[in-house]
Order: sequence, then structure tokens, then C-alpha cells
Amino acid sequence: MGEWVIEPATVESLPDILQIEEACVSSPWTRKMLEAELSGNRFARFLLAKRMTPGGAGLSSIIGYLCFWVIFEEVRLMNLVVIESMRHKGIAKALVSQALEAGAGQAGMRALLEVRASNHAAQGLYHSLGFRDVTTRPAYYTNPLEDAVLMELDPIVSESARMTEALGHDGGRITPL
Ligand SMILES: CC(C)(COP(=O)(O)OP(=O)(O)OC[C@H]1O[C@@H](n2cnc3c(N)ncnc32)[C@H](O)[C@@H]1OP(=O)(O)O)[C@@H](O)C(=O)NCCC(=O)NCCS
Repeated sequence: MGEWVIEPATVESLPDILQIEEACVSSPWTRKMLEAELSGNRFARFLLAKRMTPGGAGLSSIIGYLCFWVIFEEVRLMNLVVIESMRHKGIAKALVSQALEAGAGQAGMRALLEVRASNHAAQGLYHSLGFRDVTTRPAYYTNPLEDAVLMELDPIVSESARMTEALGHDGGRITPL
């Protein structure tokens, strides 16, 4: 087994998600907002990245999470965080890839997200997964006030299909599981 695993969140994951939000995000989701997403929004899904404690007999700690909505044919990436000490290991890429696969499995055709204009790390991540910039949404964010870049992946393609395409073969949509 690797250093970390990805699995769906439960309501019990809320305190850990809140802690990550507060530590890593300039305008974090509150407990109420997370509660509403975790238990009150039928479109919302959460994936957690967990680090397995060495020799810890199944004990683990949460090192990242992704909240996304699957609204009919649209997959909307809402919130993505990986704790600082675990960045650059492909964890965010794995979280987003699994969300895209899950979305495609529920008839998702395209994926959308907004990201702060200054967030080049996140934009690099999404570009590496095939997303393109659609438009800028002026003054979309507060605290601090900033434009958003709207990014889109249409159609949703798997990582292997993108690599095949890059090698000059046919690409393809993710086949629903
Ligand atoms: C953005 C964030 C989620 C990336 O997490 P991560 O686990 O380090 O990302 P990955 O290791 O999966 O990186 C995948 C790809 O994204 C790109 N990327 C990641 N971090 C990058 C950086 N600092 N600068 C440029 N590109 C970056 C690269 O293309 C990278 O592929 P590579 O490692 O093969 O070069 C993380 O930095 C974070 O939590 N930031 C704070 C919260 C945030 O900004 N969330 C996004 C809101 S839209």
C-alpha cells in the first residue's frame, strides 16, 4: 500500500476537514457550510486523502480533501485542499481524477470550476488535467477581493485517454464504471 489513500468522506470527517480548511484557505468554509454540504446537499460529494500511520493498524490522518457536485451532466469542483507538507506528491491530481471518474460514472459530461486568478498552482494542476480557461469573472472573490478564472474540461476525459492522445492516438471519454 502507498503512503496515502483516497476514500469518500463521512459526516464524522467534518472536524478534520474544517481543520484543513482553516489552516490552508484564506476564506475557509465554516462548520455550518461544511455541514450543509456533507448532509444537506444531495448533489455534493466529498473525497478525502488520508495518510496511513506507519505500523498504526489502520490509523490514518486526513491530508487533503475535495468537495465536488455532480449536477446531472455537470461536474462542478467546489473546494480542493492538500496540507502544505504533503503537496507536490500528486495527491490533488489523484483527488480530481477520481472525482472526474465518479462524475462520469453518474452521467457527468463536462467539468467546471472557478479559481483565484493569482492561484497559479491550482491552475497548473487543472491545466495538467486538460482543463482550459473559459473566461474571467471580475471581483468574484472576497477576502481578498480578486477575479476568478472559469475553467472547463469538456468532454471529461480520463488521464490515460489524454496520454494516448498526446502520443497521437484517439482520445476518449471516461467510460462510466
Ligand atoms: C493547489 C493544490 C491543491 C495542489 O495540490 P498538490 O497535491 O500539491 O498538487 P499535485 O501534486 O497533485 O500537482 C499536480 C500538478 O499540478 C501542478 N502544480 C501543483 N502545484 C503547483 C505549483 N505550486 N506551481 C505550478 N504547478 C503546480 C503541476 O502541473 C503538478 O504536476 P507535476 O507535479 O507533475 O508538475 C495545493 O497547492 C493546495 O491545497 N493549495 C491551497 C488550496 C488551493 O489553492 N486549492 C485550490 C482551489 S481551486
